[in-house]
Amino acid sequence: MKVPLLDLKAQYAPLKEEISKTVLEIMDSQYFIGGPYLKECEVAVSKYSRAKHCVGCSSGSDAIIISLLALGIKPGDEVIVPSFTFFATAGAVAIIGAKPVFVDVLEDTFNMDYRSVEKAITNKTKAIIAVDLYGQTADLDKIQAIAKKNKIGFIEDAAQSIGAEYKGKRVGEVAELTTISFYPAKNLGAFGDAGAVLTNDDRLKEKLVMLREHGSSDRYYHKMVGMNARLDAIQAAIVLKKLKKLDDWTQGRQKNAKIYYDLFEEAGLGDLVITPKVADYSTRHIFNQFVIRTKKRDELKTYLQNKEIASAVFYPLGLHMQECFRFTGSKEGDLPVTEKLCHEVLALPIYPELTREQLGYVVDNIRDFYRN
Ligand SMILES: Cc1ncc(COP(=O)(O)O)c(C=O)c1O
Repeated sequence: MKVPLLDLKAQYAPLKEEISKTVLEIMDSQYFIGGPYLKECEVAVSKYSRAKHCVGCSSGSDAIIISLLALGIKPGDEVIVPSFTFFATAGAVAIIGAKPVFVDVLEDTFNMDYRSVEKAITNKTKAIIAVDLYGQTADLDKIQAIAKKNKIGFIEDAAQSIGAEYKGKRVGEVAELTTISFYPAKNLGAFGDAGAVLTNDDRLKEKLVMLREHGSSDRYYHKMVGMNARLDAIQAAIVLKKLKKLDDWTQGRQKNAKIYYDLFEEAGLGDLVITPKVADYSTRHIFNQFVIRTKKRDELKTYLQNKEIASAVFYPLGLHMQECFRFTGSKEGDLPVTEKLCHEVLALPIYPELTREQLGYVVDNIRDFYRN
């Protein structure tokens, strides 16, 4: 039995007709930038996320860059980020000349440890970026309180978590700026690169709209230096069409997670395989990934591969140890939890179209691996 990590063709099949019609309509109109689909998509995403504004943009990475620029982050400023995340969280900081200051995460939720954040604050700190890893939010109140106390910016990198909830509040309701990725493999994916920033702040929204369009709101007149970070009409239309399915897909992911939890319990592997913790504050984990921890991670991954079961390591090396971030002064040994997780985490297939048989096959094989 084959179990891929993701099957985008299965997701696309029932939507093919509707999406093809819309894409053809846009091609016929030859209206590719801006236009009604962008507006409709922004309204729908902001409603879904219970945020006042949604500013569509070119990717989840650019969403972080324009958010930092909107907060006025400048070269030489420090921005606190978790080390255990996708590159873009810190890359966005460094590309504008600011310094990412790496902090550790919590072993059970994989998310930013607010105690490390407090310790990392200096008089150069201008913002904190919390990441909602694998579809579960960070402990947002605790981190936001540190940002407020120190009068610095707060960005929630929700590239992996649109639709998740923190103490009943949707991603987009809590942070000053929330960044989303519609990368095709995400739980809500476009057909190419796409992203968005959510905010409840009118002033920041105006800035973001300008920043995604070379700092201009009046064509050829530029109030600030911005980027070309627009969301094009075809991607906006696809996100809009797929958004209607997002809750069904989320339920599918949650159902699959429940099956995994039950099957792992039955398998009785004890501490050999640690299943992901759903934090008390996490009222809606959307399981963008289902990530187990095991000491024999690499051997297990190869074993599963030989049984045609795909799995993935998000992430094999903490950002504080990446060559390109040596200039920050961070090094191996600085962040022990991140370094440990990088050797232990393994993401199993969790996408909604998986069958119970496929999930059973995954856990049976994991059990066999430890029995042999
Ligand atoms: C946590 C995190 N931040 C940012 C990004 C960047 O998003 P994009 O690939 O849309 O630029 C990703 C995408 O993988 C991500 O997982």
